[in-house]
Amino acid sequence: MNAALLEVRGLKVGFPTPDGLVRASDTVDLELYHREILGLIGETGSGKTVLGMAILRLLQPNTVIEGEIRYRGRDLLSLPEDEMRKVRGREIGVVLQNSGTSLNPVYTVGDQIAEAATLHQGLKGSEARHRAVELLDAVRIPDPAVMAREYPHRFSGGMRERALIAMALACSPSLLIADEPTKGLDAVTKREIIDLFAEVNRDRSVLFITHDIEAAATLATRVAVMYAGEIVEIGAAGEVLSDPAHPYTRGLLASLPERGMRPIPGSAPSLITPPPGCRFSPRCATKDCKSEHPGLVEVGPGHYARCMLYDRG
Ligand SMILES: Nc1ncnc2c1ncn2[C@@H]1O[C@H](COP(=O)(O)OP(=O)(O)OP(=O)(O)O)[C@@H](O)[C@H]1O
Ligand SMILES: [Mg+2]
Repeated sequence: MNAALLEVRGLKVGFPTPDGLVRASDTVDLELYHREILGLIGETGSGKTVLGMAILRLLQPNTVIEGEIRYRGRDLLSLPEDEMRKVRGREIGVVLQNSGTSLNPVYTVGDQIAEAATLHQGLKGSEARHRAVELLDAVRIPDPAVMAREYPHRFSGGMRERALIAMALACSPSLLIADEPTKGLDAVTKREIIDLFAEVNRDRSVLFITHDIEAAATLATRVAVMYAGEIVEIGAAGEVLSDPAHPYTRGLLASLPERGMRPIPGSAPSLITPPPGCRFSPRCATKDCKSEHPGLVEVGPGHYARCMLYDRG
């Protein structure tokens, strides 16, 4: 495979709190290749959003960050803020979690997209407005020239999501970080947004953060599974989701409605004092690994799992 567009190496993210350091990312290693969609899944609180925000360097200033985040070979963590701002605008686009609230109600949708085009691509007045209509058309908003002049409240949830995707695409990013872009949408709209992603992202790489495993299965080239701040399994989407190696991934899949809806007993551990050994051990029915902390081990070509079933190291 060619060189990775994004390489995350030994990333640790900690939030200082009165109770101690919340280790939301703990030694995360990850590559994202050109034109691939990497699905990032895992229960709530596992560290998916934090990982996305760390890549964009949008975490609060007192966050403790270690490791490397290399984008086209440059370490984003050591870039001055003004350089990072350019990267954010021109190279890496983002559709944030809870994006329903990220459109400004007092400006028209077209003006907001035009502003993004002005900011990131230097387009002026009518050029930028024209680009906004083009982008709304690209994300399949009907009557884009008319809708560009409407305010966000006239847009349905699905249309707002499309508008936000249009805004993220305004800078033609090589990498798009999309955090739960289908959350809160009905089944039909969800399907449409997933199809839209497949279509508009043919030429770029996407970090697709989702709870929707079916969406990950449809869209993603590879899938990474997070548990308690660690990547516990990563590999080709078809393989990870049809033949998971990690007991946690198996549990996650078994908890889906279509697979019997058997939730994983117990709950995720504290990120301040994670259990010694395997972090999933307290909930794992397969193996008891309280003293050993497994590394990621290759269990098949390009398929890695962090589990003592495989780690004989
Ligand atoms: N600013 C912060 N201060 C302290 N803890 C934080 C902060 N931001 C996030 N966390 C903690 O970091 C952990 C990871 O959070 P994150 O938002 O990345 O989870 P997630 O996997 O995106 O969950 P969800 O699926 O619900 O979106 C959580 O335990 C969260 O409480
Ligand atoms: Mg999240």
